Amino acid sequence: MARIPDAFIDELLARTDIVEVIHARVPLKRQGKEYSARCPFHDERSPSFTVSPTKQFYHCFGCGAHGTAISFLMNYDRLEFLDAVDELARAAGLEVPRDTRQRNANPDTQDIFKALDAAAGFFQRQLAASDKARAYLDRRGVGEAIRAQFAIGYAPDGYSALKDALGTDPRRMQLLERAGLFSKNDRGHVYDKFRDRVMFPIHDRRGRVIAFGGRVLDPDAAPKYLNSPETAVFHKGRELYGLWQARQANQALARLVVVEGYMDVVALFEHGVTQAVATLGTATTPDHAELLFRNAPDVYFCFDGDRAGRSAAWKALESVLPRMRDGRQAFFLFLPEGEDPDTIVRSEGASGFDARLRDATPLSQYFFDTLSDGISLGTLDGKARLAERAKPLLAQIPDGAFGDLMQQRLTELTGVGARPSVAEASAPIRRHGSQPLAPPRRSLVRSAIALLLQQPSLALDLPPPYRFVALRQPGIDLLTELIALVSVRPEITTGALLEHFEGREEGAALQKLASQSLPGDQASWREEFHDAIAQLDRQTLQQRIDELQAKLGTGLDEAEKVELRELLQARR
Ligand code: GTP
Ligand code: MN
Repeated sequence: MARIPDAFIDELLARTDIVEVIHARVPLKRQGKEYSARCPFHDERSPSFTVSPTKQFYHCFGCGAHGTAISFLMNYDRLEFLDAVDELARAAGLEVPRDTRQRNANPDTQDIFKALDAAAGFFQRQLAASDKARAYLDRRGVGEAIRAQFAIGYAPDGYSALKDALGTDPRRMQLLERAGLFSKNDRGHVYDKFRDRVMFPIHDRRGRVIAFGGRVLDPDAAPKYLNSPETAVFHKGRELYGLWQARQANQALARLVVVEGYMDVVALFEHGVTQAVATLGTATTPDHAELLFRNAPDVYFCFDGDRAGRSAAWKALESVLPRMRDGRQAFFLFLPEGEDPDTIVRSEGASGFDARLRDATPLSQYFFDTLSDGISLGTLDGKARLAERAKPLLAQIPDGAFGDLMQQRLTELTGVGARPSVAEASAPIRRHGSQPLAPPRRSLVRSAIALLLQQPSLALDLPPPYRFVALRQPGIDLLTELIALVSVRPEITTGALLEHFEGREEGAALQKLASQSLPGDQASWREEFHDAIAQLDRQTLQQRIDELQAKLGTGLDEAEKVELRELLQARR
């Protein structure tokens, strides 16, 4: 995908006021230099969500959510990146560079959406015309309202119903093909992919049809369900069936219930459980996990109680672990053999299904129950094996209370800690019986970085060459990279800077540093920054002097002798 130039994003963020953008959606209260509110991304009673007008980013001390005005719109309004950019650009009166507005502006993609929409309409009309298909849905208890809400349709029998109706010219044929609606035989003959099937359109986050799932009417036909292939607009590992409808039906989603089948989603909605979504015949991917938690703080995974269901549940657990920031909760519900949510909600109603959700197993319990399966925790050997199995998984949980509690639980079960708790790691180191050592002074590199994060433009009045680049100290490479980044993107805000490091190892540490409020003002920051850089330069000088002096014994060549003399002079 063509990228929007960084310079444009920088300008856009520089011209956007993040406080205004967020305040329009979540009322903010002024608090000193920053603004705060109760975090819109997790449940909390006291506000730990802060928005900084100077750094142009938001940060929640509770759940760790953070980002720029763009990421706020993506997370809060659930927009795609390009749509969020479009929206801010419109408000700022900027034009998004044309050739880069690919996904949405690409005329081909637009036409594929139109072809899919036309096909969905065609299938709906066919349903209205087919007694057989309507009788099937009647039999399964899918009422008129739900049929309309989910735009359920029917693909008639025969090999060319859709093709004849919509493939009226070569261009249209090509679009339907790229929309995944045709199959091709060995001789290159193109025919309708979906035949004699009930059609479930799959909608994207903006309510556009992007694919279909089709269920056979004839119990002897196979496969029972047929899905659209992956296309330019459909990636099944990233989509959830029913999410669009769930978001339409709920002001705010307090929970999402993940089930296995289209019919399960539809039946749950029919009975008033309007927070159901299904993965599309695939395992729960990490993309799914992120999408689920972006939409609701509590996620319930509902599986068959059989072996396949258990294995699918464990896959889901593996996908959600790295997404378990504070404020998020996952639960697992296993249904009795032979039942699925469709049959349960029909026999027990929404209240029966809700009761089962209330009894669902929390992730933590499911985790330790499953891992200790077949292990005797009464023995040392068993404890060691549990610890060994748990460690690599626990390591994936983001820092926070949930991770600490899981850790604590492992320690309770085994007496073995997998990673130092926050308290241990930050406790001052003690020598036997002596006073605790003074905490290490904040390193120069660290404070230079903290200052840059406070005000990136500080890097601009620092003319190269940078002597300190040669200094062998942790963090120097990062400092250098930050300065280089700001010098090519002079308008960059703190928020955008952090975005640049998102997903990299340094990202979390930078985020933490940036969310601190430094004492002082712009003038004092500038002075401190220049001071820190000057000291680093001096240390670099000393490092080289030490190097050369260490070589004195084995002999310096002429150039080195000159260099040493000059350095010694410079030091004075
Ligand atoms: P009904 O029989 O209509 O109630 O469907 P179900 O949801 O109970 O069916 P099942 O539990 O067999 O399947 C659950 C989900 O797995 C379906 O909704 C499909 O997404 C997927 N699936 C089932 N059978 C097939 C198949 O034959 N091929 C493919 N590609 N997917 C299938
Ligand atoms: Mn079923």
